[in-house]
Amino acid sequence: MKALIAYHSDYGNTKKMAEAIAAGIRASQPGVSVALRLAEETSLDDMLDADVIVFGTPVHMGSMAWQMKQLIDRAAKLWMEGALEGKIGGVFATGGGFGGAGGGVEQTMIALYSNFLEHGMVVVGFPKSLPGYADGGLQWGPYGRSGNHEGMPDTVADAALTAARSYGAYVAEVAMRLSAG
Ligand SMILES: Cc1cc2nc3c(=O)[nH]c(=O)nc-3n(C[C@H](O)[C@H](O)[C@H](O)COP(=O)(O)O)c2cc1C
Repeated sequence: MKALIAYHSDYGNTKKMAEAIAAGIRASQPGVSVALRLAEETSLDDMLDADVIVFGTPVHMGSMAWQMKQLIDRAAKLWMEGALEGKIGGVFATGGGFGGAGGGVEQTMIALYSNFLEHGMVVVGFPKSLPGYADGGLQWGPYGRSGNHEGMPDTVADAALTAARSYGAYVAEVAMRLSAG
C-alpha cells in the first residue's frame, strides 16, 4: 500500500504537520510506503500510484493556498477518467488562527474534502478519541495554529504535531482495514 502526502508550505509549519502525519503512518503501518511532496511537485502519476492521498495547506485569506488549488485543477483530468474512485483521502491544515475562531480553517479543510468527494474517494475524518485531538483536532483532520495572540507568526505546538501523528496512524489503519475487506 502507498500513501501520498501532498502539501504546500511557505514557512515550514504545514511541512512539520506533513512530516508528523508521515511519521504516524510509518509507525502504525510499517508496510505502507509514504511519499511526501510539495503540491507543485506532485504529478498526476503520484496521485494515481497512491492508495491513500492526504492533502495539507496553510490557510491563505480564508481558503487554501493557490498551489493546492492548482494541483486540484491539474487533477481534473483524473476526474474525467474516474481514476481516483475508491481511494482513501485525508486532510490537514495550519493557520495563524487570529481571533481564536480558526481564521477560515474549517472551510479550507472542507474544500479539500469536497474535491476528494468529487473524485469519488472515501474520506477519513479525525475521531475525537485519538491522542492530540483536544488541542490539535477538528473532526475534519488535524489543525496546527501557528500564530500568536497578537496575530504574528509563531509555530505549531507539539500538541498539533501529536494530533498529526495520530491522524496519520489512524488513516493508514483504516486504509489497511478496508483493503483487507
Ligand atoms: C498570504 C497569507 C494569508 C493568510 N491568511 C490566513 C487566514 O486567512 N487565516 C489564518 O488563520 N491564517 C492565515 N495566514 C497564516 C498562515 O496560514 C499560517 O502562518 C500558516 O501556518 C503558514 O503555513 P506555512 O508555515 O506552512 O507556510 C495567512 C498567511 C499568509 C502568508
